[in-house]
Amino acid sequence: MCPRCGGLLDIERTNALDPGTLRDLWRSRLTSLDSRDRSGVWRFREFLPFDNDDPIVTLSEGNTPLYDAPRSADYCGLRQLKLKHQGNNPTGSFKDTGMTVAVTQARKLGARLVACASTGNTAASLAAYAARANLVCAIIVPSGQVSHAKLAQALDYGAKVLEIDGNFDSCMSFIRELSEDSSVYLVNSINPFRIEGQKTVAFELAEQLEWRVPDHLVVPGGNLGNSSAFGKGFRELLQSGLIDRQPKITVVQAVGAAPFARLYLEHDDESTLINEQDPKTLASAIKIGAPVSWRKALRAVHETGGSVLTVTEQEIADAKAMIGRDGIGCEPASATTVAGMRKLVADGVIKADETVVGVLTGHLLKDTDYVMGYHGNTLVGPDGEQIRGRFANTPIQGQDLHDLLDE
Ligand code: F0G
Repeated sequence: MCPRCGGLLDIERTNALDPGTLRDLWRSRLTSLDSRDRSGVWRFREFLPFDNDDPIVTLSEGNTPLYDAPRSADYCGLRQLKLKHQGNNPTGSFKDTGMTVAVTQARKLGARLVACASTGNTAASLAAYAARANLVCAIIVPSGQVSHAKLAQALDYGAKVLEIDGNFDSCMSFIRELSEDSSVYLVNSINPFRIEGQKTVAFELAEQLEWRVPDHLVVPGGNLGNSSAFGKGFRELLQSGLIDRQPKITVVQAVGAAPFARLYLEHDDESTLINEQDPKTLASAIKIGAPVSWRKALRAVHETGGSVLTVTEQEIADAKAMIGRDGIGCEPASATTVAGMRKLVADGVIKADETVVGVLTGHLLKDTDYVMGYHGNTLVGPDGEQIRGRFANTPIQGQDLHDLLDE
């Protein structure tokens, strides 16, 4: 039994069912009208530490599309590329897949208040799920550093938002102090229930690929909960005989906020991560200098034979525009994936004919100021450098249709 919740542990449950039965069961739930089955997270509940009759807090998260992205593939030098769009979740980011589980647990424990520090998406997601669960929600964000779209979500869902001077890492220290009060339930990605929910994305992805995993899975890295969750998800799938190998998990960071990449690339000693004191990137979601889940993420990278790398602001911006040309669209942090793949193909780490999936973590509409800046050629990087919109699509000033067609 699980010591935290009294539910069955993963391994006890999965031993009870063979891979074929599990696959059929999960697929059959796609046509069910039960809210537990309709959630792309709870559909895989045999691997979640809860009992079947525990009430859940859900907004029908998960079940996100896996798109073919031919223009982005061409841009990277790949024959084929698929993008798993986690921005198609209820609050527009991958955070919802973890939050449904963490808030379900908070309610089960009788928490009075749920709280997190955030660069914006965790805040938006927690605020929504807390509202569904009728829990008081407190959010701490770095003042002036969160996109308006994300802040607007948190406010509309009724969260109490505290803006503090400092960066995400200062917010994180602050929230850890607050959570020493036992009535406060902290749901940053150090919370194991968040990771449990997010790991189900590996299940959904494997199912979408008919249980044949890709050669490479590429994810953005900030606080490193997502890469840790993918590591756990694929590990459990392998242990249960649902897949026969794991994809190589590669984590991409923005060059100005890359403590994990530096640990991986530069240090012989991987036992201590040296924090980045002043992380800088326009991809505000991953502007993090002291990632809390780096040990688990490092395990995922090593265990699967993946890697860690950095990309520049210019590379992120161009990759983001290219993803848009595939008709998909994402927020800047998500575009580190395509920017990173392009480098890995150029360096021969990824071969042109290998199968590759990139994880888009947030929706295009999460940060429209960035998009308008790029296409208007007014985007300025964190060190004052001009970002040249290689694929800028500047609005045309004119009087009639010919002005459009002449372009
Ligand atoms: N992409 C987006 C859109 C994010 O919002 C985040 C993290 C990441 C990538 C990085 O994921 O932290 O699991 O490595 N956002 C957090 C937040 C920090 O507060 O919304 P990670």
